[in-house]
Amino acid sequence: MQFAHAGICYNEGADPALADVSFSVLPGETVGVIGGTGSGKSTLVNLIPRFYEATEGRVFIDGQDVKALDPAALRRRVGVVPQKAVLFKGTIRENLQWGNESASDEDIMRAVHIAQAEDVVAAKGGLDALIEQGGRNLSGGQRQRLTIARALVRKPDILILDDSSSALDFATDAALRKALREMDGRPTVFIVSQRTSSIQHADRIVVLDDGKAVGVGDHLGLLETCPVYREIYESQFKKEAARA
Ligand SMILES: Nc1ncnc2c1ncn2[C@@H]1O[C@H](COP(=O)(O)OP(=O)(O)O)[C@@H](O)[C@H]1O
Ligand SMILES: [Mg+2]
Repeated sequence: MQFAHAGICYNEGADPALADVSFSVLPGETVGVIGGTGSGKSTLVNLIPRFYEATEGRVFIDGQDVKALDPAALRRRVGVVPQKAVLFKGTIRENLQWGNESASDEDIMRAVHIAQAEDVVAAKGGLDALIEQGGRNLSGGQRQRLTIARALVRKPDILILDDSSSALDFATDAALRKALREMDGRPTVFIVSQRTSSIQHADRIVVLDDGKAVGVGDHLGLLETCPVYREIYESQFKKEAARA
């Protein structure tokens, strides 16, 4: 897929929330999107399923402008896990079948395994266990892992994790990324994060600053060429070192 000078202005006359973003991605690659709060990360990934439409440039999937694709068909191909994971009152099975009602327990457990959520299902007592409205009887990290599993049950071609592993500890986050990489027929994955540790192994990293892509490249390249990326990395690296 490809972003070609893509951008969006939410309100006419206002500054664009995202401007002139260009990069391409091969099927099965992982793209990291990093930047501060309000830098345009969610805006960028929301252009893919057309939650919002680009007001400049284009976004292509398999060479087709997303604006030319049927929205329902497009959204079947793109799995989005938002930062604020939404679970409803019902069994774990019902929650995970949302969007793919024909998924078997085996399909569900495969997704649960990749999403590092086996212990969540086990702790609650299996797929028949009840989740309360909004997932109140789960921790933030448990909710995030179940919503990632839910997106995987739909077998998307493109999986977007929008700050959706922020509540996971480093080891679980790393195990999730490893499991995604090792999937059969793995999707193209967009990982949006404020933590460099979550995206530094991505095939391609897009660094956003105030709606502009100030760097596109891999971790080592960006450390050399992108001051914004280097600054984010160094500030987090120091914090981690201080904690250790
Ligand atoms: N639906 C919207 N309508 C108007 N402005 C928006 C909307 N969504 C985001 N914005 C603005 O666009 C900018 C980028 O936001 P966002 O993409 O959510 O950033 P991030 O995900 O990096 O925190 C911010 O200034 C935000 O206020
Ligand atoms: Mg966001």
